[in-house]
Amino acid sequence: MTTEFLKPLEWKDNTLYILNQLKLPEVEEYNPKRTVEEVFHAIRDMELRGAPLIGITAAYGMAIAAQHINSEDHSEFMEEMQKQASYLGESRPTAVNLFWALKRMIAKAMTLGEVSLEEKRKVLLEEAMIIHKEDIAINRAIGENLISLLKEDMTLMTHCNAGSLATSEYGTATAPMYIAKELGWDIKVYANETRPYLQGARLTAYELARGGVDVTLITDNMAGFLMSQGKIDAIITGADRVVANGDTANKIGTMSLAVLAKYFNIPFYVAVPTPTIDLDMETGKEIPIEERGHEEVTSWFGKQIAPKDIKVYNPAFDVTPNDLITAIVTEKGIVYPPFNENLKKLF
Ligand code: MRU
Repeated sequence: MTTEFLKPLEWKDNTLYILNQLKLPEVEEYNPKRTVEEVFHAIRDMELRGAPLIGITAAYGMAIAAQHINSEDHSEFMEEMQKQASYLGESRPTAVNLFWALKRMIAKAMTLGEVSLEEKRKVLLEEAMIIHKEDIAINRAIGENLISLLKEDMTLMTHCNAGSLATSEYGTATAPMYIAKELGWDIKVYANETRPYLQGARLTAYELARGGVDVTLITDNMAGFLMSQGKIDAIITGADRVVANGDTANKIGTMSLAVLAKYFNIPFYVAVPTPTIDLDMETGKEIPIEERGHEEVTSWFGKQIAPKDIKVYNPAFDVTPNDLITAIVTEKGIVYPPFNENLKKLF
């Protein structure tokens, strides 16, 4: 049985439409984005999120930027493109896919010196569409590699949302879950709610249930108890940035799960497309960790749940040390420790 996936974005009638994830699961609403500023705000304000999707959206953002540039002069064109890339690069700091996509669009634009403005706009839109399409194949391949590590009746745990709402189609961490369902396997999934933004409750639980996967929602602080009861056979998460030594940034709470998994002897897999791997950084200490607004912690979707002026710390990501990771699973294959040596071999 094939799966009908949610589309987190669509290019239609020369416009980028983004599924507003702030309104999920109650409302499926697509909003048009016609300017680079609108794309910037959609990323920063988390109307869409998830490392690969942020990258794809930024690529379309660069295609939109090209549509607003009116100079036929190539160096003026490139100057403006660089400016817009720097601007989009300010939207969120942790997911390296954003910078990967911006660099790829700039590199493509640089090759177009001799062609007309109209042709540049066309080629850059095509490049964004290629990035988008490549992501579909990447996710399916990650899923096939992951499924080779699993058995038919396993119970998995995942954190945050590394699903079709963070990518295209199969997602990364969710890809083996959808493939297992298509194969008729009896896989069960626990989705952690993922405070404070609730990507697990609002997005993962929603998309897996909608896709016919047997999913159970738990709050984050229940994860260790389930592991102690022997209920979890493997943990699979996505990542925002994997660096040269295998240290991995992902949604806050991921590192605690990896520590628990080590204690309870449960395999901990990280599912990533190769654009999420950043070999320019040696260790996780170099990864910029985004801090988000206090209201995400002190209120619950508009309702105040903590004293108004209380001090708050809200890091959006943490870094899982490489020695807690069993394997990093990419579209190009499964990478085992020592990650320092083996990640390089992918490129
Ligand atoms: O803050 P978010 O929702 O963008 O964080 C998303 C995650 O941490 C995902 O696990 C990660 O981006 C991988 S998505 C395939």
